[in-house]
Amino acid sequence: ATGAITIDPGYKNSGSCKSEITFLDGEEGILRYRGYSIEELADKADFLEVSFLLIFGELPNKTQLEKFETDIRKYTLVNEEMKTILEGFPKTAHPMGVLSALTSALTAFNPKPVNVDNENELYDAVCKTMGKFLVIATWTYRRRMGLPLNYYDNTKGYVENFMRLMFEIPTEPYKMDKRIVDALDKLFILHADHEQNCSTSTVRIVGSSHAGLFASISAGVSALWGPLHGGANQAVLEMLQEIHDNGGDVEKFVLKAKDKEDPFRLMGFGHRVYKNFDPRATIIKKAADDVLDALGVDDPLLEIAKKLEKVALEDEYFKSRNLYPNVDFYSGIIYRAMGIPVEMFTVLFAIGRLPGWIAQWKEMRSNKEPIGRPRQVYMGHTLRPFKEVKDR
Ligand code: SDX
Repeated sequence: ATGAITIDPGYKNSGSCKSEITFLDGEEGILRYRGYSIEELADKADFLEVSFLLIFGELPNKTQLEKFETDIRKYTLVNEEMKTILEGFPKTAHPMGVLSALTSALTAFNPKPVNVDNENELYDAVCKTMGKFLVIATWTYRRRMGLPLNYYDNTKGYVENFMRLMFEIPTEPYKMDKRIVDALDKLFILHADHEQNCSTSTVRIVGSSHAGLFASISAGVSALWGPLHGGANQAVLEMLQEIHDNGGDVEKFVLKAKDKEDPFRLMGFGHRVYKNFDPRATIIKKAADDVLDALGVDDPLLEIAKKLEKVALEDEYFKSRNLYPNVDFYSGIIYRAMGIPVEMFTVLFAIGRLPGWIAQWKEMRSNKEPIGRPRQVYMGHTLRPFKEVKDR
């Protein structure tokens, strides 16, 4: 299957490809993974079920799901020498930069290229990536906090392990809160795939040169880090905090976000595809209310976010441009209520997006797609003769 490249009149070249994984309708605000609505999956499935669905194409039966979870557990030990690489980073390094480096470094300890035509090898590579990525993602936080690194507990679930790996300290076992685990599971589902977004396109194009899965995922982590993409969830919290620290003057902020001179944008608003509500934002907004109520957290930033949304949605500038809250607008409020530090927000986005990246890489390689090579609209000089330096 070769992608059809379409050139947008606005020169926003959009390379396109054929895929069976995720369906998006930006006008109607529809999102489906392998034909299942995001609303049903977020409500009824768990993250590993959805990961299996995205990667292998069908919802797993009980045996397949149990096997998937067991097989991921086989690979959650990370080579101890990876700690030397981790310790090479200053504690102040942004976790996304560390995660991208550690993900690429996994290739050094798993050098054998994946034979995508061998079903078992491909399945093992999927489980290995799901297992190791979660552990090294939490290591980026533990390093930053100067805490000892934790190991995966094979008696606990995947999302439960995330909270343990992040917060368990030797003197005190982590006290699991089902409400937090359930909310995180739902958030990971909502972030799991989103067709050909910036980071997924990066994973596909890097993988199309037959670079390995870890190298391709590492590139996706770097692309996601940008504040216009996954980094927005951190930028939204910093924006809400700034509004709060400046007396909560939301109207002033909306005015600023429209100022063409100021590159500042209303973070968490707008989308390349959705010109209607991002269905994930609708679900996350409700989850924010539920989680904060359940945890008894009264976060003034949630009220500021709601007021900001209301003012922006009633503002002609935003209305005329079909700018609505996106997936990043409310997610950080929930992460903060769970005790996740703001610099880890985009790492959580990466953990959620990992199965989507894997699924898209697998589809691209299994379809034997050619090496990615987007074309351009050439706007430069026509042919001109060389000039000696003395004549310039
Ligand atoms: C994600 O692609 C995906 O699927 C991504 C994602 C995923 O799941 O992978 O959904 C995750 O990245 C969500 C987006 C997170 N980023 C942010 O929240 C950052 C703030 N948003 C903007 O930077 C912006 O909306 C983008 C980057 C998301 C989209 O940029 P575009 O495609 O350039 O936006 P556009 O063409 O729709 O803009 C139309 C107009 C422009 O103004 P004019 O030239 O018409 O005068 O709206 C303006 C833009 O300047 N505009 C904004 C704005 N977003 C667009 N103005 C103020 N604030 C904003 N947030």
